[in-house]
Amino acid sequence: MLSLSHITPLARRQEYAACLSQRYDMIRIAPSPIHQQGVFAIEPIKKGTRILEYIGEKIRKDESARRLAQRNDYIFHLNYRYDIDGASLDNTARYINHSCDPNCEVDNSSQHIWIVALRDIASGEELSFNYGYDTRDYENFPCHCGARQCCGYILGREYWGRIKPQR
Ligand SMILES: C[S@@+](CC[C@H](N)C(=O)[O-])C[C@H]1O[C@@H](n2cnc3c(N)ncnc32)[C@H](O)[C@@H]1O
Ligand SMILES: [Zn+2]
Repeated sequence: MLSLSHITPLARRQEYAACLSQRYDMIRIAPSPIHQQGVFAIEPIKKGTRILEYIGEKIRKDESARRLAQRNDYIFHLNYRYDIDGASLDNTARYINHSCDPNCEVDNSSQHIWIVALRDIASGEELSFNYGYDTRDYENFPCHCGARQCCGYILGREYWGRIKPQR
């Protein structure tokens, strides 16, 4: 039989920290018009709010390159040495879709990756951020964000001037 004594104080603290970084009072996962599942605000969220931490396994860049080659879509840049593999289903932020006119941004300035509100977000709005993809194979990543100024592809804003105009 599983005994509670198997849960170490450290594991309990880590679980508690993970709970705090997943603010289920503010958001929920639901079907998205952009792609499959998305994350939606269930109450108004103020500009600057840290909404969710992008949690996952902290891995070195060489391991990250190996997993990317296996088409893991959930690897996120943390710093020059490490990435976060957010593929675990515990990582609610993995359901946030890309938008060319996002309402969130990513802050990785604190050894953690936070999804932060770029502006006030209304209850019911889908959360999004710009995935920041570069131009490599960009035509394989068409964007369905629906924004008026959508560039047509999942692409970092700084690359928009470098792609072929869409017909
Ligand atoms: C991290 S997942 C996002 C969550 C995803 N909707 C799901 O249900 O698992 C990233 C994948 O979602 C899809 N996606 C996200 N944003 C998109 C967009 N603006 N247009 C088209 N596909 C998008 C792409 O297939 C991308 O590889
Ligand atoms: Zn778009």
